[in-house]
Amino acid sequence: MSKDIITITNNRDNKSYEFPILDASVGPSVVDISTFYKETGMFTYDEGYTSTASCQSKITYIDGGAGKLMYRGYDIAYLAKEKTFLDTAYLLLHDDLPSAEQLKAYEGEITKRSFVNEGIKKLFDSFPDQAHPMAILSAGVSALSTFYFDHLEIDDKDEYQEMSNRIVAKIPTLAAFSYRYSNGLPIIYPDMNKGFTENFLNMLRAYPHSYVDLKPIEIKALDTIFTLHADHEQNASTTAVRNLASTMAHPYAAIAAGIGALWGRSHGGANESVIRQLEMIGTVDRVDEFIAKAKDKNDSFRLMGFGHRVYKNFDPRATVLKEIRNELMTELGISSELVAVAEKIEKIALSDEYFIKRGLYPNIDFYSGLILQALKIPKEMFAVIFVIGRTPGWIAQWSELSKQKTVKIARPRQLYTGPTERTPEY
Ligand code: ACO
Repeated sequence: MSKDIITITNNRDNKSYEFPILDASVGPSVVDISTFYKETGMFTYDEGYTSTASCQSKITYIDGGAGKLMYRGYDIAYLAKEKTFLDTAYLLLHDDLPSAEQLKAYEGEITKRSFVNEGIKKLFDSFPDQAHPMAILSAGVSALSTFYFDHLEIDDKDEYQEMSNRIVAKIPTLAAFSYRYSNGLPIIYPDMNKGFTENFLNMLRAYPHSYVDLKPIEIKALDTIFTLHADHEQNASTTAVRNLASTMAHPYAAIAAGIGALWGRSHGGANESVIRQLEMIGTVDRVDEFIAKAKDKNDSFRLMGFGHRVYKNFDPRATVLKEIRNELMTELGISSELVAVAEKIEKIALSDEYFIKRGLYPNIDFYSGLILQALKIPKEMFAVIFVIGRTPGWIAQWSELSKQKTVKIARPRQLYTGPTERTPEY
């Protein structure tokens, strides 16, 4: 850490204050303003935390300008291409990639724990038909804390391990059950002979006594989507998880809060919007009309799946998914009007001056939407897929905060703009 400081002068009373600058191992430094209120009597104001680091973390690094994303120092493209989702989950949760032996043991442990208590089915039975799978999943994860209430007191490594393995293992089962229940379909139990991602696809698509022919490329595509979503530093849902962790809430209650945040259209719902928009455009001959609408300053229409708040040159996750999308379409021989519409939009956006000038290229949601559609996963399940991928990241962030020597409860302040004290009328 450097001993550099930043000096702030208040021109109202000409007083100066000094605050230390803390250096990151890579990326922007931060100004430590934890004593700001004590020293100046003022709060800082940063709606949406656009300039505020809310914690110190060793998990994920993003450089939006350079299109860089790393989990524990490993580039996302390496993890997505060379490793599996469970390798990545292990990396996030144990700080290092597993050896072949450790991975085998971890896979076995996750498979073994993938069953949920039969009592959960009574809860699922009580939801109305067509209930949204995200609502069912969130309730199911919350309900898990009633079966494992001991996880409230996690003070040793083994207990933490058990809590973490349980949730990583059971989320896909609850996710698949959520879909089956919301559509009145028979549930399919986990299969001990299948790997993590194959098992989930099977629970989603199979029927009792029938065989689903899953191609390796389908499993690889979904596994890659899970890996690419595994963590993304202090986004809205992770911040929700950390806020709950700071109150010492049950870890599964914190995950349920993360699911609630992720359900929002501005967060986990973007890839569903991509497919809805492609369906709305409908045919290739209407693409030019919608490109013109997207470019029209007086029209609020935006091309879904283009642009990103953080990645301003390219989204490294989209680069990986574009390759997988191409492979998948070729191997499955998929050609449809929707795919043709998507291809035309992609081609125009990558060559049109309007999009190039503003750094608007296809983002992760554009490709993940198309891949999930090709995998026959219904749109209402897209955010659920995101949850499965993000769970190891949430647990890693929960654990990082919980292991701190002192945990400060998340409690932001405000700029009060309401009425001053009113005179009561008696
Ligand atoms: N289509 C057309 N024009 C766009 C689009 C788009 N998708 N996105 C941005 N623009 C234009 C804006 O009109 C603006 O133009 P101007 O400079 O002439 O006024 C310029 O590009 C910059 O736009 P901002 O809104 O300032 O960019 P910001 O970084 O704030 O927004 C965002 C990023 C919200 C992702 C935006 O690009 C968008 O709405 N995209 C579509 C929705 C989407 O795909 N969301 C998923 C993002 S990925 C994720 O969250 C995991």
